[in-house]
Amino acid sequence: MGSLTVRNLPEAVKKRLRLRAAANGRSMEEEVRLLLAEKSGDAPAAARPESPVSMISAWMSRPEDAPVAARTDNRAKPARQSAEPPPAATARRILLIISGGIAAYKSLDLIRRLRERAYTVRVVMTRAAQEFVTSLSVGAIAGEKPFTELFDQASEFDVGHIRLARDTDLIVVAPAAADLMAKMAHGHANDLATAVLLATDRPILLAPAMNPRMWSNSATQRNLKILLADGVLTVGPNAGEMAESGEVGTGRMAEPLDIVAAVEKRLAGATADAPPSRARPLAGKHIIITAGPTHEPIDPVRYIANRSSGKQGFAIARAAADAGAKVTLISGPVALPDPSGVKIVRVQTAQAMLVAVQAALPADVGIFAAAVADWRIAGDIVQKLKKDAGGPPKLELVENPDILATVSRLKTKRPALVIGFAAETEKVIEHAKAKLKRKGSDWIVANDVSAEGGAMGGDDNTVHLITAAGVESWPAQSKDGVARQLVARIANALNGEPS
Ligand SMILES: Cc1cc2nc3c(=O)[nH]c(=O)nc-3n(C[C@H](O)[C@H](O)[C@H](O)COP(=O)(O)O)c2cc1C
Repeated sequence: MGSLTVRNLPEAVKKRLRLRAAANGRSMEEEVRLLLAEKSGDAPAAARPESPVSMISAWMSRPEDAPVAARTDNRAKPARQSAEPPPAATARRILLIISGGIAAYKSLDLIRRLRERAYTVRVVMTRAAQEFVTSLSVGAIAGEKPFTELFDQASEFDVGHIRLARDTDLIVVAPAAADLMAKMAHGHANDLATAVLLATDRPILLAPAMNPRMWSNSATQRNLKILLADGVLTVGPNAGEMAESGEVGTGRMAEPLDIVAAVEKRLAGATADAPPSRARPLAGKHIIITAGPTHEPIDPVRYIANRSSGKQGFAIARAAADAGAKVTLISGPVALPDPSGVKIVRVQTAQAMLVAVQAALPADVGIFAAAVADWRIAGDIVQKLKKDAGGPPKLELVENPDILATVSRLKTKRPALVIGFAAETEKVIEHAKAKLKRKGSDWIVANDVSAEGGAMGGDDNTVHLITAAGVESWPAQSKDGVARQLVARIANALNGEPS
């Protein structure tokens, strides 16, 4: 009844109800249920509105029901305190998913710590989780019964799992068992927890917890990589002694207070009206990206160019902006529209590109994906070259500035992470490794631009990431896929997390 009523309320009333619920530390449905219970007898029968929707709408228009600001003790004080509009309520709704691991006992403390900080906590428990802690204990600490069943007649009459997935600001999975991570990585949805995780558009924070061998197993590490690339955030696991006797290693779930700190970091600045979107791990970072070819004039009408389309650099700019970064995209001449949320500087030549890069510094990351022409014509030819009996003109070439090497060697203002692209037609990895050394960059993304590879101008790319740690060959995928994977790696590197 509560959720049906909420859905049918006018938007303005819904907004006030949301603020009131957040201020009181309750879900909107809970608030509706309480209002209906509390108020159903307070008006004479003849004057009483007929439907729950009109009743709620009428009550929520009264000044006495104006919401109050969120406060630390969310249950102790009555809701009606002020008719003044409150400051924007902060985003404080957590959906905690408890999966089947020994660390599930720590989830009880996590719920308590979150509620102490005025978060409303709804809980979903997997079947395995209920083998470790009872839904009774969880319900008692969370203040409401945990959700356990996907096919639940009581909550699924209006597709409750989708509502659970959306009616929250952040989903925390603690403990995140190896099995649940595997299901998430591969898009399973065969129980309530996995269906909610697949249906959500909210950020997800995982607190993995498992035996060290399970954690270091290449299957778990593969799944982790997929999840990180999908924008899922992690806290822990920590190293130390495991619950199983005699086992020591990495796999302990992060402590509840560390998980709370990660929650607070993720929700910083988000409000009930502007809840956080899916992971923005590059928020606050400035990234400079170059893209496309350069055009080096021969005379006023002719130029030297290459076949770069700019698609890979533009895809990286979009992915970085989606991840919350401030992006300056410096592009040579391409036929691509400006990506939204990105500052774009369009240039023609290598020299102009270098000037634009220098003007855009400082930055946290520099990604040099442009196919910059190595040479330009010596001097300025101001008139169109004429075809005459003397035969073709002899063009003298001089070297262009090396943008990647210049930025890599900056003494001040060098970005913390400098990434170059190597376009190779043969011995791709060998040449890229040499380029990494020669240019002094931190990473090189090498791609095969031979005609067979189809990377130049195409929509797909097959790349190798070369870092000090070695060579990683990524599967063939779309340029958007490469961009998302690269951005996830950058976010991990900047946050000092495993890549
Ligand atoms: C005693 C016991 C302890 C377990 N502890 C863990 C654990 O800490 N981490 C983990 O990933 N799996 C652990 N498992 C295995 C999971 O419970 C099992 O993979 C289960 O299918 C997880 O289901 P879920 O992901 O739906 O919660 C444990 C199993 C048992 C019997």
